[in-house]
Amino acid sequence: MTDRVSLPSLLAMKRRGEKIASLTAYDASAAALQDAAGIDLILVGDSLGNVIQGQPNTLSVTLDHMVYHCACVQRAARRALILADLPFMSYCTPEQAAQSAARLIREGGAQAVKLEGGRERLDIVRFLTHQNVPVCGHLGLQPQAIHRLGRYAVQGRDAESARCIIEDACLLAEAGAGLLVLECIPWELAQEITSAVDIPTIGIGAGRHCDGQVLVWQDMLGMSAQSLRFSKNFLAGHTGIKEAVAAYAQEVKAGCFPGDEHSFGRDDA
Ligand code: KIV
Repeated sequence: MTDRVSLPSLLAMKRRGEKIASLTAYDASAAALQDAAGIDLILVGDSLGNVIQGQPNTLSVTLDHMVYHCACVQRAARRALILADLPFMSYCTPEQAAQSAARLIREGGAQAVKLEGGRERLDIVRFLTHQNVPVCGHLGLQPQAIHRLGRYAVQGRDAESARCIIEDACLLAEAGAGLLVLECIPWELAQEITSAVDIPTIGIGAGRHCDGQVLVWQDMLGMSAQSLRFSKNFLAGHTGIKEAVAAYAQEVKAGCFPGDEHSFGRDDA
């Protein structure tokens, strides 16, 4: 029997300098393929609003949707750690967050939950951690904040916002977060955060210096309508989905993906 990946094993990987390969999945077929290919961390992301439901953003995703898709994924994954997103408005208070997390863990089979935000979420991170719920933070581009942000764009380019993101990362780690997703920030900033915190960082559009990488399943298979700079179609040049996932895992582990062409720099135009 294969040992299940856990938060402590991801931490041990960071300490050994071993890269963490992660993908999103929303169903059993994808989860089985990813698990067999050695993906360490499966994220049941609220990006399912975009790629499964055809919505313009993640805001319409409910806790019921997340529980359903998480349960589908967990039936097929034997080794990978299953991380589930707390959807928009499901974690406004520590108590509500705990109830939402309990459903994702009990009914969905998740082992950890992810929430977006920094210093404004510290009481929630502390509360969940004290209830033995492993928490992953999510900084940089926060899709649930789309109406405040106005558009999906790289975050942390100027010195002030970069400083704020680094502080948030340290505060989340101190509050008990065991993992950190960094989305669409300059690679230099992601590198700085990765050395500043002793918890693993998982990047998407955050350059190669993160402790691990995550991509949206449909993007890495070239199924999405738009081509995203930070993603790559791993199906191109491979004979099937299985080979594409294995190539992704291998490129992440070897530190070859993402390359410079998939990353944003502080001084990019
Ligand atoms: O929902 C999601 O898929 C995510 C990734 C983009 C990190 O949060």
